[in-house]
Amino acid sequence: MKNNNIILMGFMGVGKGSLARELAKKTKRIAIDTDDLIESMENRKIKKIFEQEGEAYFREREKKISRWLKKSVSDTIISIGGGFYQVGNLQKIGHVIYLESSFDAILDRISSFDNAKSKLKKRPLLQDMKKAKNLISERHPKYLECADTVIQTAGKDSATIAEEIIQLLKLADK
Ligand code: S3P
Repeated sequence: MKNNNIILMGFMGVGKGSLARELAKKTKRIAIDTDDLIESMENRKIKKIFEQEGEAYFREREKKISRWLKKSVSDTIISIGGGFYQVGNLQKIGHVIYLESSFDAILDRISSFDNAKSKLKKRPLLQDMKKAKNLISERHPKYLECADTVIQTAGKDSATIAEEIIQLLKLADK
């Protein structure tokens, strides 16, 4: 496995971050998130970056992060933003797992949280539900193209999905 990294890819709200933390705990690896890295690099929230600089600027930041991941990161669980696949060559960074779910199942998941409103508010591309629904259908074939492994996530909690990945990739503790 290239660099021994595991990349968790999928649409906004599918649960990449929670799964990354669950996998990190279970396999004693480190988990990082590309949105967190961009927020640290910029010292401002994603929402602010979109408002102040626009989406194209944000995508450039993602490209910078992807170059750094490729060069400098190994043995790590990496959760990526929903549009990060556009940096290209994801498989050069690690083993890409597509967490597949329907739009309705994603909305159900988000609304199950006490802080559902803030989970929606912090995501600029999740403000208009009609546009978001189109975006997931547009991206689904692209996610499939980038993926080494596809996992269905609807109705499963992160502990269950983590176990599935550990079995599938035969991940031993680090
Ligand atoms: C985006 C997804 C977000 C974040 C940004 C853009 C996208 O990350 O990177 O708001 O284009 O799908 P999450 O998938 O973690 O919500």
